[in-house]
Amino acid sequence: MSRSKTRLTCIIASFALMLAGALALSGCGDAAPEPAPEPEPLPMIDPDPTTPDSIDYLALVNKQNPLPSGWEESIQTVTVKNSLGDDVEVEAKAYAAYLELKADLEKDGIHVDLDSARRSVSEQQRIWDEFTVTYGEVYTRTYVAVPGYSEHHTGLALDLYLNIDGEDVYLNEDMVEYPEIWAQIHSKLADHGFILRYLEGKEDITSYGYEPWHIRYVDSPKIAHEIMDQGITLEEYLGAAIQMPAAA
Ligand code: DAL
Ligand code: ZN
Repeated sequence: MSRSKTRLTCIIASFALMLAGALALSGCGDAAPEPAPEPEPLPMIDPDPTTPDSIDYLALVNKQNPLPSGWEESIQTVTVKNSLGDDVEVEAKAYAAYLELKADLEKDGIHVDLDSARRSVSEQQRIWDEFTVTYGEVYTRTYVAVPGYSEHHTGLALDLYLNIDGEDVYLNEDMVEYPEIWAQIHSKLADHGFILRYLEGKEDITSYGYEPWHIRYVDSPKIAHEIMDQGITLEEYLGAAIQMPAAA
């Protein structure tokens, strides 16, 4: 190739490149659109039982004991959407166990979903305020923890609701109408590492009213059975029971 021909080829090639660049910048031309970027992978959850636990699954949070310090930095959580369209955040191992419990219950035709699990202090305050307006102060003190002292801050406490004949049943006053269903649910909790936290007849120890929907993950089915089979509270199991005046 002669020098002048090379130069002409270069000029034509440069012109073609400039034209292509201008077309690309202006968005004109028939060029194929850029492929969509790959979506970000979802964060990995590691509920591997061989991984050392960074939290104490038997931590006691009650009216005398606030959320342990450093907890927020130590837990791994997942956020899921329930059938009502609400986001619910749950500690990762507790959620894996909940899915097993849910599948186990479905074998018996019982359908549950998660109303609420991990709550921030400000979310607990919002619930406290809402209950005070709706139900009054006495009811609120009986069923809602003071912000900072709720087991829900741990991510290990799960409030269930029911789906009966295709209808969601999630208000406290409606859920208590189904004691037989709750009894069936409670009979399966320990196998999956859960306990019932606020027992009927133990209000003087828990200092909360009976909550059939509030379950607590303790990680170990063996420990959960020790608690559930004796019908005792977590306070009694840990030897931390303080006799309190019965909840009003
Ligand atoms: N319902 C329980 C007591 C809570 O608010 O943490
Ligand atoms: Zn609860």
